[in-house]
Amino acid sequence: MDDPIPTITFPDGTEVPALGQGTWGMGEDAGHARQEIASLRAGLDLGMAMIDTAEMYGDGGAEEIVGQAIKGRRGETFIVSKVYPWNASRKGTITACEGSLKRLGIDRIDLYLLHWRGNYPLAETVEAFEALKASGKIRAWGVSNFDTDDMEELFSVPGGRNVAANQVLYNISRRGIEYDLLPWCQSRNIPIMAYSPIEQGRILHHPDLIHIAKAYQATPAQLALAFLLERDGVFVIPKTSNIDRARENRGCVSLDITDEDWEALDEVFPPPAKKTPLEML
Ligand SMILES: NC(=O)c1ccc[n+]([C@@H]2O[C@H](COP(=O)([O-])OP(=O)(O)OC[C@H]3O[C@@H](n4cnc5c(N)ncnc54)[C@H](OP(=O)(O)O)[C@@H]3O)[C@@H](O)[C@H]2O)c1
Repeated sequence: MDDPIPTITFPDGTEVPALGQGTWGMGEDAGHARQEIASLRAGLDLGMAMIDTAEMYGDGGAEEIVGQAIKGRRGETFIVSKVYPWNASRKGTITACEGSLKRLGIDRIDLYLLHWRGNYPLAETVEAFEALKASGKIRAWGVSNFDTDDMEELFSVPGGRNVAANQVLYNISRRGIEYDLLPWCQSRNIPIMAYSPIEQGRILHHPDLIHIAKAYQATPAQLALAFLLERDGVFVIPKTSNIDRARENRGCVSLDITDEDWEALDEVFPPPAKKTPLEML
């Protein structure tokens, strides 16, 4: 029996397991659809209820894959999608959301994010998000790729403090947000969603990560995910289209790493000593 996944509580009180599933790269090739759906469903069986997608992924194709994966299981899921910045006008946000709802086959998105900052004023996008909330088409809204100064600006616009999450690049090899953005969000109870948590696979070949993981009969992916799950208020959304890897990733919850090994990892992947601008993939 797997250990339960720790949960995080959103500002509105909704509690969601901290380990979820990404979908970037899905819905691009019809020949992979069955495997992608099966992998997401296996993830749901394992309690990874949060599924992160976007109108961008596969040009809407990933949302369609998610729609098929959650058919008949909506109650077990927490669905996150995102609007392109160039659609994020007062009217465009509503139209984009309706398109996402249709592709997902649901009548409400649990968390709807501005994918990254664009040219529309934040106040306009927030107004659209609040209208979507009032009409029941989304439960909550948030942002993505927002650095601390962006968050401060967001807090200064009407309704901006209703932001429910910030999804950013964060993994053991990219710890810049620990300097300011992470504590800024933690102190305001705004969850961070860590994207590319295994650096899209690139960190899995790191010899020190492999060496320390081995001591726990774990894989480097599990250790990298466990590193993020240790942090307060951080969701982790690895993407896989492979059922075995979904199981492997789920197993990160059971790792109990010693303080000595966390310190050893700090030597290899040092926490930031100064502000660095937020990176983006
Ligand atoms: N807001 C944003 O701007 C933004 C940007 C990037 C990502 N995201 C979101 O965050 C999610 C995760 O980030 P990501 O997809 O960039 O990268 P990631 O989750 O760090 O890595 C995904 C890659 O790693 C492979 N993989 C997964 N588990 C593995 C394991 N246990 N062992 C070996 N390889 C494994 C996957 O291949 P297989 O599928 O073949 O297993 C895939 O190629 C995305 O899918 C997306 O939902 C958001």
